[in-house]
Amino acid sequence: MSSVIKHERLRRWVEETAQICRPDRVYWCDGTKEEYDRLMAQAVKNGSAIPLKKRPNSFLFRSHPSDVARVEDRTYISTKDQADAGPTNNWIDPVELKTTMKGLFEGCMKGRTMYVIPFSMGPVGSPIAKIGIEITDSIYVVCNMHIMTRVGTRVMEVLGSDGEFIPCLHSVGAPLVPGQQDAAWPCAPMEKKYISHFPEENLIWSYGSGYGGNALLGKKCLALRIASAMAKREGWMAEHMLILRLTSPGGRRFHVAAAFPSACGKTNLAMLQPTVKGWKSETIGDDIAWMKIGPDGRLYAINPEAGFFGVAPGTSYGSNPMAMETLHENIIFTNCALTDDGDIWWEGMDGEPPDHAVDWKGRDWTPGGKEPAAHPNARFTAPASQCPIISSDWEKPEGVPIDIFIFGGRRAGVVPLVNEAFNWDHGVFLGATASSETTAANIGDIGNLRRDPFAMKPFCGYHMGDYFQHWLDMGDRLGSKAPRIFYVNWFRKDRQGKFLWPGFGDNSRVLKWMCERVEGKAGARKTAIGLLPEDGEIDLMGLDVPERNIKELLDVDLDAWKAEIQSLEQHFSQFGDRLPGRMKKQLDDLKKRLGV
Ligand code: GTP
Ligand code: SPV
Ligand code: MN
Repeated sequence: MSSVIKHERLRRWVEETAQICRPDRVYWCDGTKEEYDRLMAQAVKNGSAIPLKKRPNSFLFRSHPSDVARVEDRTYISTKDQADAGPTNNWIDPVELKTTMKGLFEGCMKGRTMYVIPFSMGPVGSPIAKIGIEITDSIYVVCNMHIMTRVGTRVMEVLGSDGEFIPCLHSVGAPLVPGQQDAAWPCAPMEKKYISHFPEENLIWSYGSGYGGNALLGKKCLALRIASAMAKREGWMAEHMLILRLTSPGGRRFHVAAAFPSACGKTNLAMLQPTVKGWKSETIGDDIAWMKIGPDGRLYAINPEAGFFGVAPGTSYGSNPMAMETLHENIIFTNCALTDDGDIWWEGMDGEPPDHAVDWKGRDWTPGGKEPAAHPNARFTAPASQCPIISSDWEKPEGVPIDIFIFGGRRAGVVPLVNEAFNWDHGVFLGATASSETTAANIGDIGNLRRDPFAMKPFCGYHMGDYFQHWLDMGDRLGSKAPRIFYVNWFRKDRQGKFLWPGFGDNSRVLKWMCERVEGKAGARKTAIGLLPEDGEIDLMGLDVPERNIKELLDVDLDAWKAEIQSLEQHFSQFGDRLPGRMKKQLDDLKKRLGV
């Protein structure tokens, strides 16, 4: 096919890459079902995929035990000047990093096929969409990209002979010598993994990992790290946000975009089944939002992805029925447990655990042991179109107008269930100071409290201080048409370690209050940290939660907040003179309100 590629720059890049990586063959993906089936059959044959008897056209993969999540420690933003990557990103000089990585890429695809995947983030041909070309030596990546993005010859047509594309080079970093048996999940050791971004030239190089965001380069690498840097330059926004549409009993539509850190509830909120009467919710996206100001001056959001790469453990008919209904067929499961009747299983699924299963490491498993059957970061890859409540407008090229922004995180204490920002600057401050306990979505400590501004700490492709300024600039441009900003915490716990708030579908009660705030129907009390619902303003009809829980959830403990100030000051101090003065002022104002 290479000889018929009209796009000279693309053809040359692929040829040059093949000369460095030296695969046995080069294959151009067409995105067809036939291609998917053929590659999956090959993955089954070589032992890396297991077909599931209980779910048509669905497969289980088990990763290498060392390659189970994103690797923030090995993720780089490589700009000429280190200052431009900022204090929240790992940095290596681009010349040095490219030299190191070229050494690794040298011959890295020996014995393998090099797949060339033309993909579109956003509906093909949409003015907001961006085209990427991922080169990879992993069948798992090709099949996942088929689901997560729009892959195919239509993308090549849009690209024409000189269209713009973002080159994304990926290798699992495990060349084969002749006759060598391939591993079920090839990858390289940790110290050889590099997830590298060159935002000044819109380039991605990823080496050594086959898992999720490390390897499916359209997602976090392109649609967040590279896109955030492009968005800053071009005056739009690329955010780590789900998008949903709420419709009130009166038929008014509200579009909500919410940023929570990894494994903190985006997919769940995106597929919300409201428990408040008369309200309806539809899914538009579950992880990433690209937003531009429309001709009417409002902010419009699209979901650049085509699938969900969702956290499996904890997903059940009780917690997220719409996800469960999405998973009947055409799914890739990674690091879930395998039941004896040929289905998958994970911790937190409805009903009793199976008496016997094969765990994510391929070992016999029975309930009651120390280790979970599914890895805590086990995932499903599912076509978004299969979600029963996907909005009919989810692929609308111009997107949907956002009314409400929500920030949040996972905090056992201090942070209340919900509060509203006084104004845009204060909302940006809430985003900039967001904090959360770390999860299994990254390889590293779990349960450590850290600041994760806008849930973008691992995904912002430039200096975080400049990113705060970009949010302020967008607010200035949006003026009175800017979305209202709220902060939530579904994860508050009591002294026994039990969640105080039921969460999931009942989060609709909090969203309802937000919509009523937008409509001017609900009041709020002013506190030192923001606007909180007055007693009785959150609709608790039919909810069986003790009154004292609600009190605690909506309490502002001034001493606990005073104790946060030092950490906030420390957080801000890392941004030096790139911290916008308006953020410094917000912190000073908070201190005044707290009397410190
Ligand atoms: P990424 O895909 O990593 O970006 O994660 P995410 O933000 O989409 O998180 P997800 O919705 O998959 O939820 C992660 C975990 O949090 C799951 O185990 C959920 O069951 C749990 N969770 C989600 N929402 C709630 C909630 O409202 N309350 C509680 N207690 N747990 C929740
Ligand atoms: C996340 O960690 O936020 C994810 C999973 O959505 S991954 O695609 O691996 O980044
Ligand atoms: Mn998710």
